[in-house]
Amino acid sequence: MRVLVTGGLGYIGSHTCVELARDGHRLLIIDNLGNAKPSVLERIRELAPGAAIEFVRADVRDAAALESAFAGAGIEAVMHFAGLKSVSESMANPALYRDNNLGGTAILLKAMARHGVERIVFSSSATVYGVPEQLPYTESHRLQPANPYGQSKLQVERLLAAQAALRAGFRYAALRYFNPIGAHPSGRMGEDPRGVPENLLPYLTQVALGRLPRLRIYGADYATPDGTGVRDYLHVMDLAAGHLAALAYLCDRDRSICANLGAGRGYSVLEVLGAFERATGRKLAYDIAPRRPGDIAAYHADASLAARELGWKARYGIEDMCRDAWRWQAQNPAGYPD
Ligand code: NAD
Ligand code: UD1
Repeated sequence: MRVLVTGGLGYIGSHTCVELARDGHRLLIIDNLGNAKPSVLERIRELAPGAAIEFVRADVRDAAALESAFAGAGIEAVMHFAGLKSVSESMANPALYRDNNLGGTAILLKAMARHGVERIVFSSSATVYGVPEQLPYTESHRLQPANPYGQSKLQVERLLAAQAALRAGFRYAALRYFNPIGAHPSGRMGEDPRGVPENLLPYLTQVALGRLPRLRIYGADYATPDGTGVRDYLHVMDLAAGHLAALAYLCDRDRSICANLGAGRGYSVLEVLGAFERATGRKLAYDIAPRRPGDIAAYHADASLAARELGWKARYGIEDMCRDAWRWQAQNPAGYPD
């Protein structure tokens, strides 16, 4: 298919582009480079040699730029990764998250409607659930995001549902990601955050590099088996495969879906640290620090809907995720070239 990928140079989008292109899809990537470097495009092309991959630098909020991207391009489906994703930034600037994440999607949907494009896969998040009423989270869990980032994801899900109610042929997949980590097994592609990483795995790899002195574990007094926070980590390549499965579902089953993409089990911070040390053969220094405001003690996915409906389940284990994240970081200590 001819697929338009927004945010395709970002962490998850880039890995998914490689898998889409290797599967024979022809890609038109749109990214404003707000959180990505242009050199990611070269790596995508390197990992999917010979594939048809075009790139346009544009913002999804720019209706005129979208119009010219869609015009005559024969787009059949959209994968929508473009968005902002920092919880702390969203609390400091909620309007920015409403504008970029919700506003950007509204403009994208209008362009799709104008050009008769009826299929979209959207990057939602487990943050739409909020404080767990029961675990694992199933898709029917109460939706009560605790921050503007999560609220923007829920608002987009509702916008997609409204669009589906309005337009008979419109189909969407809202994929609620748990904690994507890891990197392409080649070591050529991975997560490249700006500045000091907020998330656990990029922080760990930078401690292993010697760039950061030690890991700070945010809280060891949670009601979890070892007192540290528990999350459902999944390999970014599994997540990429989930997108291909969702696209196939939209086309073959001709229905919309809202599904968790997680491994279906949780690991504590100390367990991730242990797995990282085993996978890399390095011992890392750490301190126990106070809890991070807004963190939830533990959660993981019920991933059975994705297994049943999409025929998808996570295949990589936690040590694979750590090994691949480390291979990427060790081979690219400064991230992607400028
Ligand atoms: P990322 O920041 O690496 O990728 C997002 C990409 O979108 C970047 O390349 C950025 O430049 C681009 N972008 C942002 N706003 C844009 C706009 N208005 N127009 C055009 N391009 C724009 O983030 P990621 O980790 O790859 O996440 C991809 C998507 O998945 C995001 O929507 C994010 O909210 C969602 N998500 C991520 C996680 C995670 O843990 N990484 C978890 C749940 C959901
Ligand atoms: C965070 C976001 C979530 C977003 C995801 C993107 C919050 C509250 N949630 O998820 O909305 O979708 O990032 O990947 O910000 N930890 C440490 N030390 C660190 C970093 C993290 O101990 O330096 C711990 C955290 O307390 C948590 C676990 O590691 O228990 C995972 O943290 P992180 O990678 O930031 O992901 P989330 O908080 O789950």
